[in-house]
Order: sequence, then C-alpha cells, then structure tokens
Amino acid sequence: MKKKITILPGDGIGQEVTREGKRVLEKIALAFEHQFEFDEALIGHAAIEATGNPLPDETLAKLKATDAILFGAVGHPKYDNDPTLKVRPEQGLLKMRKELGLYANLRPIKLFDELLDASSIKPEILKGSDILFFRELTGDVYFGEKGRRDEGQTAYDLMIYQRFEIERIAHKAFAAARTRKKKVTSVDKANVLESSRLWRQVVTEVAKGYPDVQLEHQFVDAAAMKLIQSPRSFDVVLTGNLFGDILTDEASQIAGSMGMLASASVGDTVGLYEPIHGSAHDITGKGIANPLASILSAALMLDISFGLKTEAQSVIRAVEQTLQQGFRTADIASAATQHEKLLNTVQMGNQVVKEIDRIMTSKSITV
Ligand code: IPM
Ligand code: MG
Repeated sequence: MKKKITILPGDGIGQEVTREGKRVLEKIALAFEHQFEFDEALIGHAAIEATGNPLPDETLAKLKATDAILFGAVGHPKYDNDPTLKVRPEQGLLKMRKELGLYANLRPIKLFDELLDASSIKPEILKGSDILFFRELTGDVYFGEKGRRDEGQTAYDLMIYQRFEIERIAHKAFAAARTRKKKVTSVDKANVLESSRLWRQVVTEVAKGYPDVQLEHQFVDAAAMKLIQSPRSFDVVLTGNLFGDILTDEASQIAGSMGMLASASVGDTVGLYEPIHGSAHDITGKGIANPLASILSAALMLDISFGLKTEAQSVIRAVEQTLQQGFRTADIASAATQHEKLLNTVQMGNQVVKEIDRIMTSKSITV
C-alpha cells in the first residue's frame, strides 16, 4: 500500500514523541512492504516563531493533500499567563480541526494489565476497563461566539450546538457501540443547559435507529464521579467538546498515565492522529517523555485511515510485550515493582521497534 503521511511535531515534547511514532510507522512499512512517504509541516508556537501564524497556509495546503496526519502537541508556557497575546499556539490546532472537518474525536481508554499498579485508582476497580470516548470536536464553546464587553470587564463564550452536529457524531458512536458491548452513555448537563437539552433530544432520536444498542444519559458531574468509581460500567461515551476534553483527561488515569492515551480525529476527509497529552514543557528536552501515546496513535492511523488491521494489531502487541518485559518510562513506573527497567523516550521507541521485529520473525501474527 502506498500512502502519504504528514508529521506535525508542533511544540514541546511533541517533537520528541512524534519522532518515535514515525519510526514505528517506518518499521511497519518495511516489515509489511508498504510505501509510506513522509513530509513534515509547522504548527503551533513553532509556526508562530517561523511565520507569525499558528497554522500557516502552506501547512494547511499540505494537510489537504495528504492521506493521514500524525500530530504531536501545541502550546508554550509564555502564553498561559498572558491573556493579551492574541496569536496563540492552540488556535493552530483548533483551526486545523475546523478546516479539515474533524468533528469526531475517538479516545480509547485501554488499560494494559501490566499498568494496573501505575494508576492511583485501586486495581480491583480498574481491571477490565475498556472505554471508547466520542468527543465532538468542532462545535460547543470552543467555536461559539466569544468576546469581551464593558470595557473588557465582562467576557463570554457561547455554548452552541446545531442538530446536524449532534446527529453525525451520535451515529458514529452508536455504530461503534454495535461492534463492542452495545452500550452508549451520552453525557450532558441537560438539567441546566439548553444546548444539552437539544443534545439529549437528538441523541435519543438517533438511538431509535440502533435498537440493539442500549442508551443511557448521565449528567457530566455524575459521569465525572462514576468514571473513577466504576469505570467498568462504561462502554462507549458520547459527549460534547468541552465535557469530552475534561472527562478524557480524567479517564487517562484509568489507563495509568496521559502518556499512554492515543486519539483519532476523523470526519469526512483526512484522519488526524495524536496523543491526548499536551506539550508538557516541564519535561521538554529531557528526553524522558513517554512515546507510547504517539506510537499507539500511529496504530490507530494504520487501522482507521488505512484499514491495516494486522499491522495496527502488531504495533499494539509490540507495546504490550514491551510493557510485559518491565520496560517503563518515568510516568508509568511504579516504585513498588522491582522488575521494572526505566527507559527514556528513544529507548522506549527502540524497544517497541525491536518487538515488532520479534513478532514478524516469530510469525505469531498471521498475515
Ligand atoms: C486536547 C487539548 C486541546 C483541546 C487544547 C490544546 C486546545 O487539550 O486535544 O484535548 O482543548 O482540545
Ligand atoms: Mg485536552
């Protein structure tokens, strides 16, 4: 198979982790005789520094002509406490999502058994958790009208949803639930918000087309509590942009670390694959970031954008076997376990590549 992949490293540890994600894709291409052609483009703070624009036209043009995108992270601490800066790294990411029509963000919360002890949640509560989030990605307060009035002393962000925006992501969530445990939990705040009341009404209507899938509604505050109280009670979670942003960071603790969670943003065109973690400037340049979220994002790309299930499965197996052997980056190391070997970013990438080789030679995967 011949495919064009654009790498967008972005800022902070984005640079370090996408390098490992790309290396895994190169390994897969070699092992399974595919031709992946890579190019790279600027986004975020790096793009502002070079061009003054967090999503330069040149980047957008490349993205519109590629088969899939592997993205790192955007952000820089200098913007976080300075509201006067009008051009911001995150605008690049948001504009890219909107321009490419990436309205559905899939965030699988998959717990590797080896990491049961890495979480701050009790193992007996966690074991067997397997949740797939569908976070709406191009609507809500993120894209509603925003502004200031009263000489800047009043600020607002409009929470807004249109029927078609809810319908299209709801269909994706129900279709996915059919291939899993056939349960959708729709999360909203319909006891307070009008946009949530429309959300609930539309999701209930869409559910009628999937009578084999069970639908339940939860308010976001209760869902936040139940996620860590009984994570096994969830299968597919369907929610809006803001609630999904918050709940998936929370849910990352079910998988042990933000450094483990991959995501896929899809819509009607090209797919974008990215870790859910951010630029993490506190550890940038130290070479200790966990590249597994980027590597698992590459696996999602192989599966969803290219339909290469065996290849995707071999990446996931390689990660599993790496963890089984006790290899850990600092974020998933547990002080309690003796047999763990602490690795840096590049060493973790090496180990996964080595495991892919082993899987190929042992032919434990039937091609
Ligand atoms: C995410 C991030 C982004 C978001 C930021 C960087 C704009 O937190 O992808 O979850 O809020 O969507
Ligand atoms: Mg987030």
